[in-house]
Amino acid sequence: MKITSVAMNLSAVSKQQYPTQNWPEIALAGRSNVGKSSLINTLIQRKNLARTSQTPGKTQTLNFYEINQAFNLVDVPGYGYAKVSQKRRAAFGQMIEEYLTTRQPLQGVLILVDGRHPPTADDVSMYQFVHYYHLPTLVVATKMDKVKKNRWQQTQQVIEQTLTLSPVDQFQFFSAVTKLGRAEVWQWIEQQIHL
Ligand code: GTP
Ligand code: MG
Repeated sequence: MKITSVAMNLSAVSKQQYPTQNWPEIALAGRSNVGKSSLINTLIQRKNLARTSQTPGKTQTLNFYEINQAFNLVDVPGYGYAKVSQKRRAAFGQMIEEYLTTRQPLQGVLILVDGRHPPTADDVSMYQFVHYYHLPTLVVATKMDKVKKNRWQQTQQVIEQTLTLSPVDQFQFFSAVTKLGRAEVWQWIEQQIHL
């Protein structure tokens, strides 16, 4: 993918605020702190356009990044962050659900799971949810620079088994530090948006 332009398009917390141009869209979902914003920065080769943080819960709105004036990448707020109040968590869940179930231009979802740990119950719910809505999914194991090579095969197995990954969906290792998987993730995105 040759990136000719990138812009932070807009932030939204509800439907009325989504972009109105109907460019194809790819969303990134995953637990707080799993590396969603870092993955976007790696894809577009910008250090911190998508704001990252060591403190979970950094991204709190749906953030639309327009690429090449042709499609959007959507940074979705992370789920499963314990320090957020019940009420706020419910509101978050609703915002994510509304987006995933009603957004017409949405062509696929990257579900990020932390490569260092087995998927959580929240990860399983998220995967089942997008699978139920027939959204093409790429499961991305993040932070693989922190996982020894001899554990990789097991990491993939545990993730695929815990999520009961469907044969229609795919799996990819990723690291924002080494850029591992960058080309493959782009390739998958290009397939979904028919570029
Ligand atoms: P929220 O916005 O809170 O949902 O988090 P996020 O999923 O956007 O995570 P973010 O990209 O902000 O990264 C969280 C932390 O993990 C930061 O300290 C990153 O530097 C770190 N991180 C992200 N990706 C990687 C990776 O591939 N390898 C390593 N070692 N650290 C990473
Ligand atoms: Mg973020």
